[in-house]
Amino acid sequence: MRNILAGLVLSSTLVARAWAGQPAHIYGVNLGSWLVLEPWMLPQEWLDMGGQSCADCSTCIASESAFAKAYPDTVDTTFAQHWDTWFTESNVDTLKAAGINTVRVPLGYWIVEALVDRSHESYPRGGLKYLRRGLSWLKDAGIHAILDHHALPGVQVPGQMFTGNCTTDVQFYTSYNYHRALVWTAVMTTLSHLDPNFGSVFAIEAINEPIMNAALTPNYGTFQKNFVQTMRAVELTLGIPVPSSSLSVSISASLSNNFTAALSATSSATAFTAEVQAALADAIPILQEIGAEYDMQTIFEASSFKKSRSSLVANFMDVNWQYNNPSNPADVAIGPQAYDNHLYYSFGGVADANPTAYMISICNLTRIQSDAAVGNSPLWFGEWGLPTQFNATDAFLYQWADAQKLAYSKGAGWIFWNFKTEISTLTNGNALARQWSYLEGLELGFLTQDPAALHDPNVCVPYLNGTSNSTSS
Ligand SMILES: *[C@@H]1O[C@H](CO)[C@@H](O)[C@H](O)[C@H]1NC(C)=O
Ligand SMILES: *[C@@H]1O[C@H](CO)[C@@H](O)[C@H](O)[C@H]1NC(C)=O
Ligand SMILES: *[C@@H]1O[C@H](CO)[C@@H](O)[C@H](O)[C@H]1NC(C)=O
Ligand SMILES: *[C@@H]1O[C@H](CO)[C@@H](O)[C@H](O)[C@H]1NC(C)=O
Ligand SMILES: *[C@@H]1O[C@H](CO)[C@@H](O)[C@H](O)[C@H]1NC(C)=O
Ligand SMILES: *[C@@H]1O[C@H](CO)[C@@H](O)[C@H](O)[C@H]1NC(C)=O
Repeated sequence: MRNILAGLVLSSTLVARAWAGQPAHIYGVNLGSWLVLEPWMLPQEWLDMGGQSCADCSTCIASESAFAKAYPDTVDTTFAQHWDTWFTESNVDTLKAAGINTVRVPLGYWIVEALVDRSHESYPRGGLKYLRRGLSWLKDAGIHAILDHHALPGVQVPGQMFTGNCTTDVQFYTSYNYHRALVWTAVMTTLSHLDPNFGSVFAIEAINEPIMNAALTPNYGTFQKNFVQTMRAVELTLGIPVPSSSLSVSISASLSNNFTAALSATSSATAFTAEVQAALADAIPILQEIGAEYDMQTIFEASSFKKSRSSLVANFMDVNWQYNNPSNPADVAIGPQAYDNHLYYSFGGVADANPTAYMISICNLTRIQSDAAVGNSPLWFGEWGLPTQFNATDAFLYQWADAQKLAYSKGAGWIFWNFKTEISTLTNGNALARQWSYLEGLELGFLTQDPAALHDPNVCVPYLNGTSNSTSS
């Protein structure tokens, strides 16, 4: 695929650039633990649901798939209750009042239920209904959404609750599972344009946090190329041109009232790779099933589907997420593309475990510049938070919130992890929420009611130009 964007972005400055539909500056939160549940964020609710807690999450009921396997008869109703209550319309109102303009929505591959191989995989069913309802609230509130493929088929990284299956058996980087992820992409791109509930979706993220060692992710670069082609193939079928690209498909007038028929025609267009063609073909019966279940047959098969919407942004973790000769996602851009980096100090490896070292590090952050130098711009920080490796004082958390917002705002903006976490005796009251929950951070005042505001715009001054200083904590 011709690299259309590289010249453009390489010559651009660091000024954050926004694509159509993308807020000029992203002030966001993640809707984590909603449609991909991570028990550590809601330990009491998880036990109440029937889950378990253990040091190694692969050894007990500590992930969605383990739960679904343990409770095959009740898993769907138990999760429906969770989806109904964890993220509510009242949360949307609070986030809107706090100036949040973007959410990142972590999703599992199982939101497209037909992709689950029930012979050896179990996941709760029915999440799409809640996703559609939540997206409609967000659209009504004018909050933009990124659909984040957070938990991939075969799991993309070992031993993590956020993949839906705590296992060391990583199978994502195989042609079978790349295919399933591309089918997911075709379905989500279609819904984003044709289901009115998805009206505020402006980006789809290919994969959350792949393994950092690129030597362990064979053919990930090819998957990146196919991911972008899949999105664009669906959009071109819908009559949405891709900016700065000559890629096109022609749909005969006789198909202009039946999108699935038109997609079927595109699935044999040789402009796309064989993998993309196969994914489009396999998405068709799934869309027909979803159409039947959610009363969208007329939209999919009996009305004009030409859209005036603009292309979605293809979103990847930035190239610097990986080491050992990673593929550069900028090389596969066709149309709007943006990059995601995540930064947590609490897991170690970023700075020494003390407040001054944290401040020197964040105030000197160079990730935006180094990404821009290899075409990974615009860049947003799709996950960050206030957690620390030490017991942080309130005074430090004011600075820590300010300094991170300042740093990430030099790029396209930031998306906090998470919009909320549980407050219970199992979380020592608000001890977890104090550093991981945006809503609690607002309550406590570390995070400002106007997300663009800072308590101290000069918070970084003492930490620049090699000055050594201690914090006021
Ligand atoms: C979870 O991983 C195990 C391998 O450790 C596998 O046997 C099982 O099928 C996986 N379950 C799901 C739902 O993917
Ligand atoms: C639309 O096209 C699909 C795929 O060719 C076909 O299965 C379906 O019957 C068509 N629907 C209508 C309403 O014509
Ligand atoms: C933080 O405070 C708790 C409770 O006072 C204490 O048990 C723990 O050791 C402290 N942790 C660190 C890293 O100082
Ligand atoms: C750092 O040093 C440069 C050059 O002396 C100066 O222009 C800049 O204002 C300094 N920045 C800060 C934050 O002190
Ligand atoms: C160190 O920080 C304090 C408060 O943040 C400030 O008053 C002081 O001037 C700083 N000292 C130096 C050498 O930058
Ligand atoms: C922080 O950045 C300044 C200016 O870019 C530099 O002089 C200083 O050495 C940096 N400090 C650290 C600890 O990286």
